[in-house]
Amino acid sequence: MNNSPISSSSLPEDFLYGVATAAYQIEGAADVDGRGPSVWDDFSHTPGKVVNNDNGDVACDHYNRWESDLDLIKQLNVDAYRFSFSWSRILPQGVGRINEKGIEFYDRLLDGCLARELKPFATLFHWDLPSALQQHGGWTDRNTASAFADYAEIIATRFGDRLASLTTFNEPWCSSILGYLEGIHAPGHKDLDQAIKAIHYQHLGHGLAIERVKALKPNLPLGIVLNLQSVYPGTESEQDQQAAIRHEEFNNGAFLDPLFKGEYPSAFVKALGEKLPTQWQNDLKQIHQPLDFWGLNYYTPARVINNTNTNAAFPQSAAAPKDPNCAVTDIGWEINASTFQDLMIKVYERYTLPPCYITENGACFNDEPINGEINDDRRVQYLNDHIQAVANACNAGIPVKGYFAWSLMDNFEWAEGYTMRFGLVHVDYQTHIRTIKKSGHWFAALAQENSQS
Ligand code: FCB
Repeated sequence: MNNSPISSSSLPEDFLYGVATAAYQIEGAADVDGRGPSVWDDFSHTPGKVVNNDNGDVACDHYNRWESDLDLIKQLNVDAYRFSFSWSRILPQGVGRINEKGIEFYDRLLDGCLARELKPFATLFHWDLPSALQQHGGWTDRNTASAFADYAEIIATRFGDRLASLTTFNEPWCSSILGYLEGIHAPGHKDLDQAIKAIHYQHLGHGLAIERVKALKPNLPLGIVLNLQSVYPGTESEQDQQAAIRHEEFNNGAFLDPLFKGEYPSAFVKALGEKLPTQWQNDLKQIHQPLDFWGLNYYTPARVINNTNTNAAFPQSAAAPKDPNCAVTDIGWEINASTFQDLMIKVYERYTLPPCYITENGACFNDEPINGEINDDRRVQYLNDHIQAVANACNAGIPVKGYFAWSLMDNFEWAEGYTMRFGLVHVDYQTHIRTIKKSGHWFAALAQENSQS
């Protein structure tokens, strides 16, 4: 990639800059003001599931520090703040009784955004399913899809007029595949049958919610956020190339195709169709809703080889051996911005899609303060190169409308607990003191340049 510093002038004039977070990763106050438990409370409190047995009980204490956190966002000169609602703070049982104290928290947060002229980009579901719904099977239960639509309606009614946009799911791939197949995220199951049902019922929940919210708030822009993979075969061999195609059909196609084409990829149906709920075909029309935008979260490419294990299920792919010379972040993810650009271009070649926001991009580097300063030059370089990739995609005609850095601040990084830091702002987990890193100042300067142009 071109290493020269990116300038806002390389991006469209009305390009939007933002920072992103998610409820369970930052809020804390897990047991406060009537919040009900979520699958992430249960999972993180199960010994051995999260590094150091960390949990989100306190996290960044954002529930109490929301006001100074909004000031911090403002200091970064961004236009927008992407956050998620905690379903179980609003509906402690997932359905039924509304917890007004939970509503009040988001009232304060949204009013605080608007007072600071920050556009609120809200997500309904960033993985923290109410435990009460998990007791009935969670995303493997069809009723969870309708519970989700009811929850969406409550959010739209109470907050819709103050939102700049609403997305249904954040990365449904993670909450189905990592949660129900690989067992490394909540609810921690390892069952392909469950994972396929979870994929389908999340899609259905999305489709039901979009329809309900659209009817209530026709002017509120609606979308979904996907973590698409930029897939490459590990070698040039025919087997690996075929494996890469299958890998893509499973990990991208099983999400993009139903949402944007109203069908599942034929290879996916052939291999796994029996595991979809009966009469799944009847749900496709409901799932395939017109959207105003979609969000892309991107961090690293996927390099895959053919999985020769005869018991391996579709897509029979496996991670390619790591190239020891390849640059990685502190979480071990390959750094390669051109794969990001390739993905944006490829996905618009293959699908008819509405405009896109980059709803997450960023890097894990665990730099700590030295004399009060965090000189995270590697994050600056990563962000520079990836925003350059966005600029290149825009120049190639891809309608990318904005970029949200992941994350506003260091936070609870799921199964990695507090060991992996992605923030533009450093958080001291003992004192909860926030310190803007070099990357935060850098991003603020880029966003500032934009608002002045
Ligand atoms: C994404 C998640 C986000 C964060 C980043 C690093 O998959 O959406 O919450 O954990 O990865």
